[in-house]
Amino acid sequence: MWPDNRILELVGVELPIIQAPMAGAVLSDMVVAVSEAGGLGSLPCALLSVEQARGELEVIRRKTSRPINVNFFCHQQPPYDPVREMKWRQRLNGYYIGMGLDNNTAVLSGNRTPFDDKMCDLVAEFHPEVVSFHFGLPEKNLRARVRRTGAKIISSATTIDEARWLEDQGCDAIIAQGYEAGGHSGMFLKRDVSTQIGTMALVPQVVDAVKVPVIAAGGIADARGIVAAFALGASAVQIGTAYLLCPEAKITAIHRQALRKSKDNETVVTNVFTGRPARAIVNRLIREVGPMSDDAPEFPLAAAALLPLRSKAETEGFGDFTPLWSGQAARLSQELPAARLTKLLAEETLEKLSLPHQTARAEMFFEDGGFQ
Ligand SMILES: Cc1cc2nc3c(=O)[nH]c(=O)nc-3n(C[C@H](O)[C@H](O)[C@H](O)COP(=O)(O)O)c2cc1C
Repeated sequence: MWPDNRILELVGVELPIIQAPMAGAVLSDMVVAVSEAGGLGSLPCALLSVEQARGELEVIRRKTSRPINVNFFCHQQPPYDPVREMKWRQRLNGYYIGMGLDNNTAVLSGNRTPFDDKMCDLVAEFHPEVVSFHFGLPEKNLRARVRRTGAKIISSATTIDEARWLEDQGCDAIIAQGYEAGGHSGMFLKRDVSTQIGTMALVPQVVDAVKVPVIAAGGIADARGIVAAFALGASAVQIGTAYLLCPEAKITAIHRQALRKSKDNETVVTNVFTGRPARAIVNRLIREVGPMSDDAPEFPLAAAALLPLRSKAETEGFGDFTPLWSGQAARLSQELPAARLTKLLAEETLEKLSLPHQTARAEMFFEDGGFQ
């Protein structure tokens, strides 16, 4: 029925649709809804404590026996750099003054922690069918522990070199993440986003470069995008932004509203929210400090100094300091419950793939002699 069954067979799902793990936006209810609908629901753990992640996994395993993906960041945690931090705070000082906030308030660092032994214990406890990573892969011992749980391991590549590296390290499938993608670029071998490749060009080149199945991600938000991904050689798609308007998405009303109003050319890749390049809808902070700033501390430390500004602005109804994460295709999103959206995407894709009227037209064309 589908043009490529490799991901379906690898993971044990019915539909080649992976709901992207989106830290801060997805919890158990969306994962359950998507997995129950036949897709692969993904729980992002980058912003969860071990206890919070355990709570979410308990709910998921109680509510569905279908395959799930559990996702982690695996960056190197940088050492705290007081000089860089001071420079960043100075850069933000005008905003602190303007909002009547004390710039010296100690703020817990943005809690995006990399995958570690404790999170690995959770993987061993809950046995997710898939474990996905962003920013490469964790070190060998952790990887081997994950592998022993029986989970399939996948990660994002933004270049052919990254895809080959992930395949060499034993990844079971590779997410080819194009420049259009919302949220953080998974780029890990280099950091130059100015040369990042779009999904249309990246997917077929990665497909040609590796043997494992490829999952297309970035700017795919409707059936047309899914059909295109298959045409480019992908075995499945990973869709993020289009799920952000589902009622299950845990985003602020400000973020939701920005997505609803967002135009095609209103997102940009910026490092000002976390220190690492990520695509978001342009807002005041990006306009005035970014999109790329050398003052921003290393990922994920840049986030901490923004927290007081963000909370105060949000309570006053402004998203000036909120990361309004979004891919380039937000306008294509349909505001539907996650299960309905997953099924609709699948139905519409199958409809387009079968295309009986077009086949008939092509047959008539060639019977008439084709191009002469
Ligand atoms: C709000 C948001 C949060 C994200 N968080 C994560 C994450 O925690 N882990 C991850 O692997 N990818 C994350 N991503 C990237 C997605 O996995 C995926 O590559 C991207 O959403 C695909 O592009 P699209 O948004 O155009 O569909 C995030 C994306 C968004 C929009």
